[in-house]
Amino acid sequence: MRNVYNFSAGPAVLPESVLQEAADEMLDYKGSGMSVMEISHRSSLFQSIIDETEQNLRTLMKIPNDYVVLFLQGGTSLQFSMIPMNFMRNGKADYILTGYWAKKAYEEAKRYGQINIAASSEGDNFSYIPDCSDLEISQDSDYVYMCENNTIYGTKFHCCPNSHGKVLVNDISSSFLSEPMNVSDYGMLFGGVQKNLAPAGLVIAIMHKDLISETVLPNTPTMLQYKIHADKKSLYNTPPTYNIYMVGKVLKWIQSLGGLEKMKEINERKAAVLYDYLDSSSLFYGLANADSRSLMNVTFRTKSDAIDAEFIKQAEKHGIISIKGHRAIGGMRASLYNAMPIEGVQHLVDFMREFENGGEYHEK
Ligand SMILES: Cc1ncc(COP(=O)(O)O)c(C=O)c1O
Repeated sequence: MRNVYNFSAGPAVLPESVLQEAADEMLDYKGSGMSVMEISHRSSLFQSIIDETEQNLRTLMKIPNDYVVLFLQGGTSLQFSMIPMNFMRNGKADYILTGYWAKKAYEEAKRYGQINIAASSEGDNFSYIPDCSDLEISQDSDYVYMCENNTIYGTKFHCCPNSHGKVLVNDISSSFLSEPMNVSDYGMLFGGVQKNLAPAGLVIAIMHKDLISETVLPNTPTMLQYKIHADKKSLYNTPPTYNIYMVGKVLKWIQSLGGLEKMKEINERKAAVLYDYLDSSSLFYGLANADSRSLMNVTFRTKSDAIDAEFIKQAEKHGIISIKGHRAIGGMRASLYNAMPIEGVQHLVDFMREFENGGEYHEK
């Protein structure tokens, strides 16, 4: 039992039992006399770790056989370049702008082709998910890009955009494995593991095999070609071995809880504790539109920056860590990833109530 609750948006809280297991195996993995950190990525011991991790991910997410799973490096941000470099065959793509990270991806893609903004909520500071039921997609668009869960603004798509048959590419970094999803609705899903799965340093990309081709933009570096990684089964060069091992452990932990349906149920229960309180509070209010709320990142504030700052300071003294909102939006953000126990959310809400009832703060 640890004495703080870590609400960081990422790198983020990991399941305590997983950390304990990793600690127990730190010096001697399965009688090898070595730590996983010290094992060659070409050894049979590591091969079984990566194979089992991929298999368990396929089972949990029900990934169809015609999808490839890649373990990549360079952070989620490198995908913002790799996606256009690998998928732009007509030099056109459509982007849905729902936040900071979708916009970063859009800015990067503009370096490689003609990018249309298919929908955007920027005019309202990304506080909602725009209607994507009938997007205006460029006729010969190579793909439609979206970011499912907007970590900074606390919003999430609750249904799949209508891309009119074009390939959908989805950044799922901050909602990865938080609930079931239908993989075949997308051409590609990708996300950094540092929020819901493992320590920072690994990106998992899941893509339909037909998207993988040696036809990429001229001068695309070898390391940035999906085909190279797919052909070598993520072992073209040294992969982040320890991170892959940690993903494997977290997948088993999710499975032990009952899989993704159960994970969703738990996440809904946790988020409701905080949203219900926000909706009833006369000091704090939520920043995302109610119909676009994220289960993973809850953004809120009071009516004054000074009260927010005081709340953040006092919260830390109560073991509530990393509650400060991103500078793009201010206020507070509580990240309720899979590994955050419901007791942590309850502790946060109890403290918010105590702070509110302190009486010295203005009503909103
Ligand atoms: C949704 C989303 N996409 C992309 C990123 C960028 O990830 P990275 O730092 O791994 O490049 C983040 C980081 O928080 C994110 O939340």
